[in-house]
Parts: sequence; structure tokens; C-alpha cells
Amino acid sequence: MSVFRHIVTALFYVVLIGRSVYFAQGQLSPTFYDQTCPNVTNIIRGILLNAAIDDPRITASLVRLHFHDCFVQGCDASILLDDANTTEKVALPNANSVRGYELIDQMKTALENVCAQTVSCADIVTIAAEESVVLAGGPSWAVPLGRLDSRSANRTLANSALPGFNEPLDDIKAKFAAVGLDTSVDVVALSGAHTFGRAQCFTFDQRLYNFSGIGDQDPDLNETLAARLREICPTSGLTNLTNLDHTTPNAFDNRYFTNLQVEEGLLRSDQILFSTPGADTVEIVNNFSSNQTAFFEAFAVSMIRMGNIRPPADVGGEVRLNCRVVNANISTVSDSEDARLVSSI
Ligand code: HEM
Ligand SMILES: *[C@@H]1O[C@H](CO)[C@@H](O)[C@H](O)[C@H]1NC(C)=O
Ligand SMILES: *[C@@H]1O[C@H](CO)[C@@H](O)[C@H](O)[C@H]1NC(C)=O
Ligand SMILES: *[C@@H]1O[C@H](CO)[C@@H](O)[C@H](O)[C@H]1NC(C)=O
Ligand SMILES: *[C@@H]1O[C@H](CO)[C@@H](O)[C@H](O)[C@H]1NC(C)=O
Ligand SMILES: *[C@@H]1O[C@H](CO)[C@@H](O)[C@H](O)[C@H]1NC(C)=O
Ligand SMILES: *[C@@H]1O[C@H](CO)[C@@H](O)[C@H](O)[C@H]1NC(C)=O
Ligand SMILES: *[C@@H]1O[C@H](CO)[C@@H](O)[C@H](O)[C@H]1NC(C)=O
Ligand SMILES: *[C@@H]1O[C@H](CO)[C@@H](O)[C@H](O)[C@H]1NC(C)=O
Ligand SMILES: *[C@@H]1O[C@H](CO)[C@@H](O)[C@H](O)[C@H]1NC(C)=O
Repeated sequence: MSVFRHIVTALFYVVLIGRSVYFAQGQLSPTFYDQTCPNVTNIIRGILLNAAIDDPRITASLVRLHFHDCFVQGCDASILLDDANTTEKVALPNANSVRGYELIDQMKTALENVCAQTVSCADIVTIAAEESVVLAGGPSWAVPLGRLDSRSANRTLANSALPGFNEPLDDIKAKFAAVGLDTSVDVVALSGAHTFGRAQCFTFDQRLYNFSGIGDQDPDLNETLAARLREICPTSGLTNLTNLDHTTPNAFDNRYFTNLQVEEGLLRSDQILFSTPGADTVEIVNNFSSNQTAFFEAFAVSMIRMGNIRPPADVGGEVRLNCRVVNANISTVSDSEDARLVSSI
């Protein structure tokens, strides 16, 4: 596949030099780097293990990074781009919230040293998410690979495509449907990622102090938990952190779902999966709560489905050299890089 990709690239250089036309990724496959970078997963895992010693939250952060990449023009590493005008990093769902950019840089540097210009940033983010779930005690799965990195980001889309913590269930379902995901099992299984990681007070404090604008509390929030949360969030609007799953904060398990059954979901978007009367998500929550194997199997399937969300052709495709910036334009590519690509045929 990679050789094919390089042939396409080289032909492209020969035929279309100087034109702003790009090629799309082919079919994804778990064996994509078997010839060109066989140690890719070990290298990513090694860097992750080291980082998790001082920062156990990083596993959760990397899973969220993958989600926030994939819901915005597909899994194309658009979220990693720093371009001031378009960067998604300052979009509302991401600003002062999404973490892990520096660790992805470290992984990219290590991979460039071992197999230069081979592993896309989008694939690094995808593998890092799977390895993070495994490290936290969750399931493993064969990760389909061969994504390309986009040549553009879209902040406007990041602001509109990602689900919000106070959105009604039907709106959240619509955002999953908009990226081609299922509105019941994918929504519930992937929300199960809130079995680890943290959230800031402002993402749930409305439930404590002013649920419907009359100084009231969310009736679907357990009073015992509410009292504890008011201590962590003494007033509204704070950025203090608390655990998304207060029972087993760093473990990837099915306690998220047992929490929902006793009204201990942290975010409104969590609790409504169980507390919306008649919703098709309720029985799935019950299933995953009583059967961790069922959750783990469904989570792996849904993560692969999310990881397969394809970018549109017009965002371009390349293996970035630096995850934060697009490669130089084809018209300005250096002779040495051009020669490398042609010689790889
Ligand atoms: C269903 C709609 C979802 C909503 C409304 C939502 C919302 C949120 C919010 C508000 C936070 C806390 C952010 C902060 O306070 O800085 C959060 C954290 C998190 N989300 Fe979601 N999320 C959703 C789905 C998902 C999905 C599909 C995944 C992954 C598959 C995911 C993984 C995570 C993780 C792991 C964290 C903790 C991150 C950390 O500690 O750094 N979420 N989410
Ligand atoms: C693969 O990576 C691991 C972890 O970095 C390292 O210990 C091992 O020596 C590497 N193997 C090869 C063949 O490069
Ligand atoms: C990018 O932003 C700079 C200043 O932030 C502005 O001057 C420039 O016009 C913008 N370029 C585009 C293409 O929007
Ligand atoms: C960004 O996304 C918005 C909202 O979907 C869309 O209207 C716009 O065309 C996109 N911009 C670019 C440059 O792709
Ligand atoms: C509660 O919400 C209402 C409606 O949004 C608002 O007018 C009011 O100021 C809020 N009260 C507090 C104490 O934040
Ligand atoms: C929450 O934040 C406030 C203000 O920043 C601080 O005074 C308080 O100690 C924090 N509470 C906890 C439990 O972290
Ligand atoms: C609230 O939480 C407590 C302690 O976890 C539990 O015993 C109780 O059943 C919960 N209440 C509701 C309404 O679920
Ligand atoms: C739990 O789920 C697994 C996977 O779907 C299934 O094979 C098993 O029969 C379930 N166990 C129970 C007790 O329902
Ligand atoms: C529970 O999940 C398992 C595995 O996904 C599935 O086989 C079973 O049909 C589900 N049961 C219910 C009641 O949703
Ligand atoms: C590529 O070329 C276009 C059009 O000339 C320009 O707007 C863009 O900034 C260039 N990008 C890079 C990375 O040089």
C-alpha cells in the first residue's frame, strides 16, 4: 500500500507539478506499516508508558484527542495544525481542554528517526488512543491504518460538529449520524470513554446550581454526588477538575454505566443516556453495566468505526513531517525530497 502511495505521489509530481491537487487515502489496513515501519506500535506504546508514569490522565486525554480529530472532517490530524487562522485548537470544545499535543509530537519525532516520512500523524493519534485504552485496563483491537494527514483545518466545523455537554440526546445523536456513526450503540459505547479522565466544573455545574434557570438542581443527579461536587465547584464557572467516573477514575472499565444507573453520571450528556424516558440508549446502558465483556467488545467495534471516518477529498492528503504544520507546497518541494519519492518507486 505504501509503495503504491509513493508511486501515486511520484506520478503526481511528474504530471501535476505546481498544481494544488491532492490524492485521497486508500483502504485502511492493520498491516499497513508491516513492511515500512513494523515497530510503529511498540514505539508509540513505549513513549505512552513513560508519560503515564507522571501523568496517568494522559491515556484519557489521548482517547479524547482522537475523538475530537475524527468528528471534524474525519480522522485527518486536522486538530494538530497550528495555523493561526484555522487552528481547531482554539475552538470552544477544544480550547484549554484538549490535551496530548506535545506527546503526539514526541511520538512523531521518534517515528521520523526510525522510519522517515512514513507514519501519518492521524495514524499516530489513532494508535495512541488504542494503546491508551489498553494501558488503562480496557480492550485491545487491531487498528486499521493508512490514514493521510489533511492540508487544512476547519475551526468553524470544530465549533459545530462536536457534541456539547448540555445538548439534548437527539442533538447528540444527530451529530453522530452526521459523521456516519450509529445513533444508539455507537453513542452509548463511545460515551463509555468517560470511564476515565477529568472534566472542569463549568461543564456540569449548571446541574448543581441553576439547572433550568430558576436556581434549581438537576433532578437526574444523585444528591450524595451533588453535595460532593458542590465542594469541588463552590460556585459556577470554575475550571477545577474532577473525575468523570468517581468510582474508578483512571481505570477503563464499565463502572461508567453502573454510575448512570444510580444517577451518578457527571455530565448531563452522560446521564441522559439512562434518564431519558423511552430512549433506545437505556437498555444498552443496562447491558454494558451488567456485562463488561459486552461493553469492551462494542467499544472496540465503535472505536474502529469512529477511526474510519473519512476526510473529504478537498482537505488534501499527505504524511506530514511535523504534525503541527502542513508540508511545503508541491511547487516549492525541495529537489532532494522529490528525488527520494521518485527513487522509492
Ligand atoms: C457524546 C457526547 C460527548 C460529550 C458531550 C462529551 C463532552 C466532554 C466534556 C465536556 C469533557 C470534559 C472536558 C473539560 O472539562 O475540559 C469530556 C472529557 C472527555 N471525553 Fe467526552 N464527550 C462526549 C463523547 C466522548 C467520546 C465519543 C469520547 C471518546 C471515544 C470521549 C472521551 C472523553 C475523555 C476520555 C475525556 C477526559 C479527557 C481528559 O481527562 O483529558 N468523549 N467530554
Ligand atoms: C521496537 O521498539 C521497542 C520500544 O521502543 C524497542 O525496545 C525495540 O528494540 C524495537 N525493535 C526494533 C526491531 O527496532
Ligand atoms: C490570517 O490571519 C491574519 C492575522 O491574524 C490576517 O492578516 C490574514 O488576512 C489571515 N489570512 C487569511 C487567509 O484569512
Ligand atoms: C468549514 O466547515 C464549514 C461548516 O461545515 C463549511 O461551511 C466550510 O466550507 C468549511 N471551510 C473550509 C475551508 O473547508
Ligand atoms: C440562572 O439562570 C438564569 C437563566 O439563564 C439566569 O437569568 C440567572 O441569572 C441564573 N442564576 C444564577 C444564580 O446564575
Ligand atoms: C476550586 O477553585 C477555587 C477557585 O479557584 C478554589 O478556591 C478551590 O479551592 C477549588 N476547590 C477544589 C476542591 O479544588
Ligand atoms: C445515590 O447514590 C447513593 C450512594 O451511591 C445510592 O445509595 C442511591 O441509591 C443513589 N440514589 C439514586 C436515586 O439512585
Ligand atoms: C456478555 O457479553 C458477551 C459479549 O457480547 C456475551 O458473549 C455473553 O454471553 C454476555 N454474558 C452474559 C452473562 O450475558
Ligand atoms: C448486550 O450486548 C451483547 C454484546 O454486544 C449483545 O450480544 C446482546 O444482544 C446485548 N443485549 C441487550 C439486551 O442489548
Ligand atoms: C501553499 O500555497 C498556497 C497558494 O499559493 C498558499 O496560500 C499557502 O499558504 C501555501 N502553503 C504553504 C504551507 O506554503
